[in-house]
Amino acid sequence: MCGIFAVSGKGNHAGNIILEGLKKLEYRGYDSWGIALRKAGKDAILIEKEVGKISKVNKELSPSVEGIGHSRWATHGGVTRENAHPHQVGKVTIVHNGIFENFSKHKKQFEAKGTSFCSQTDSEVIAAILNSFFEAGFSPEKCITKTAKKIDGRFAFLAMFEGISGIFAARRGSPLIIGRGKTETFIASDIPAFLEKTNIVNYLDDNEMVLVNGTTVNFKNLQTGLPVEKRDIKVPWKVESAEKGKFPHFMIKEIFEQKETIARAINHDENALNQAISLLKDCNGVFFVACGTAHKVAMTAEYFFAEISGRKINVVPASEMPYFERFINKKTAIIAISQSGETADVLEVLERGKKAGAKILSLTNVESSSIARLSDVHIPILAGPEKAVASTKAATSQMALLFLLAYTEVGKTNIAREILRSTSSSINDFLNERYEAIIQDVAKTIVKKENLFIIGRGDLYPMALEAAIKIQEVSYIHAQGFSAGELKHGPIALIEKDTPCLVLGDDLETLSNAVELKSRGAKIIGISPQRADVFDEWLKIPDCDGAKAIVTIIPVQILAYHLALLRNIDPDMPRNLAKSVTVK
Ligand code: G6P
Repeated sequence: MCGIFAVSGKGNHAGNIILEGLKKLEYRGYDSWGIALRKAGKDAILIEKEVGKISKVNKELSPSVEGIGHSRWATHGGVTRENAHPHQVGKVTIVHNGIFENFSKHKKQFEAKGTSFCSQTDSEVIAAILNSFFEAGFSPEKCITKTAKKIDGRFAFLAMFEGISGIFAARRGSPLIIGRGKTETFIASDIPAFLEKTNIVNYLDDNEMVLVNGTTVNFKNLQTGLPVEKRDIKVPWKVESAEKGKFPHFMIKEIFEQKETIARAINHDENALNQAISLLKDCNGVFFVACGTAHKVAMTAEYFFAEISGRKINVVPASEMPYFERFINKKTAIIAISQSGETADVLEVLERGKKAGAKILSLTNVESSSIARLSDVHIPILAGPEKAVASTKAATSQMALLFLLAYTEVGKTNIAREILRSTSSSINDFLNERYEAIIQDVAKTIVKKENLFIIGRGDLYPMALEAAIKIQEVSYIHAQGFSAGELKHGPIALIEKDTPCLVLGDDLETLSNAVELKSRGAKIIGISPQRADVFDEWLKIPDCDGAKAIVTIIPVQILAYHLALLRNIDPDMPRNLAKSVTVK
C-alpha cells in the first residue's frame, strides 16, 4: 500500500532511476505519483508530482544525485495533486507509507500557531513535525527520533533535509529494504524496485532508521539513536521473475506460472514441515488468520485439516480477530497466511497474540517480511514475486503447502507429495493457450452480465468465495459465491433467465443444486473433471483427488482475467485496490 523508493549515488540520474523503480512498485498504489530530487551541490529540492499512474509517465527528469519517490494509494485525502507525495514543509521533504493515527491532534496544534497545510494528508504533518525540530536546531537523526515518538500507528518514511546531503529513512510497521549497489544505494518498500541494479540487501527492522549518502549507509535504533549492525543478504530472485516477459500482464503471467509453483511450494524438507507441525502439538486452539484471498485459502485448509488430520481449526479474517482475543493464550497457535507478509490486520493479530504468549506459524511469499520475522516458525511458499493485485499463484501455493502440512500432522507427508506432484504435472498439461482460448470464449458469453453467482461445497465452497473475489476485483462484475447447499435459503431468489452461475465440482449434491438453478433459468458453467448434462458450458479440469480445490480455481482466474480485458480494465491494476494492504 503506497510504494516508496529512494536513491542516493554518484551519478546524475537519480530522477530516472526513481521513475523506473516506482514503476515497479506501482502495484502497491496507483492513484498518484511524485518525486523529489536534489541536484549535486545544490540545496534546493525540486518536486514533480501528478495524479494518475506512473507507468504512463515518460519524461526526462532533471539531473540529480539523489531523491525520493512515491506511488500513492489514497488513505487520508482524495486523489488530488495536493495530496500526492512528496510533501514539503519548510526545509523538510518526505514520502510516507502508513497511517499516522493521531495526526489531526498535531495538525491542529500547528494550525493554531499559524502553519497552513497544502494537503489533507497525515503525511504532511510528519513533514511539519520534522521541520519544527530541524528549525529548532536538531540534527536530522534527532529530528527523526523525536518525530517517531509522536506518531501512533505504522509508518515507513523517507526524508530529505535542505542543506544536508543524504536520504534518511525510518520504519515502524511498514516495510523498507535497502539495496546495496556498487555506486549508489536504494531504499524501497519492496525489492523489485531495485532488483535490476542489485540483489544485495539489508532489511530495516521496526524501530530502526537509516542514513544513506551515496554508498555510505548507517543504521541506527530509532529510539536510542545507537548504531545497529546489519548483515548483507543476497536475494535469490531473478530479474525476469519480477518482469512480465512475453505476457501482456502480470496476472496472466502469474496464472501460467502455476505450472511450476505448486511443485516448488512443496519443496520443503521433512524437518521444516515437522517443526511447523510441532507448534500445533499440545495446543488447545489453533487459529488461521488472513485477509482477502489468503483468508479463502485458510478456509479451504480448514477442510483439509478436518478431513486429513482430524483437527478442527478456527478460521478468522484478521480484522475480526479482536472479538476472539479472549481465546488467545500460551496454549494457542496462530497460523498466519499472507502473500506479502505485510498485511496490517494480520500483523496486529500476531503482535497481540505474541504478547499473550501464543505460538506463531506463518506462510508467506516474502521470507524477509514483517510477518515472517515475527513468527516462531515461518515456511516460505516459494511462489516468486507476485505483482498483479489479484492473488493467483500465491493462493494455490499456499493451498498446496497447507495440504502438505495436514498430511504431515499424521505422518503421511509422502502421500501428500505424491498427490501434489501429480496435481502439478496435470496443471502443466492443461494450462496452455488452447485452454485459455476456450475460457476466453466463455468470457465473451457473459461479459455483458452484471451479476454472476458461484456455488461449491466442501473445500470448493471457499473456492466459490475466492472465485467471486477474483471476478469482482478485476472485472467489476457483481459476483457472489455460496455454499451449494445454502443456495435455496435465499440467494436463489436472485436467479433470472440467463443469470450466469459457475458450478464448481461434479458431485451429485452439487449437480442437483445446479439443476435447481437451471430450472430458474440460470446459465450453468461447470468447472469439473466430468461433464454433466446440466452444464451449458463446461471447463474441464483434471481429476486431482483431494487437491481439487487447487485446480478448480485456475480456470476461474483465467475467466476473471479475460472478463477484465473484454471490459477494458487493466487486470493488474484494478480501481481502488492495492496489492499489499499495510493500513488497517
Ligand atoms: C489485498 C490484495 C489481495 C490479498 C489481500 C491479503 O486485498 O489485493 O489480493 O489477498 O490483500 O494480502 P496478503 O499479502 O496478506 O496475502
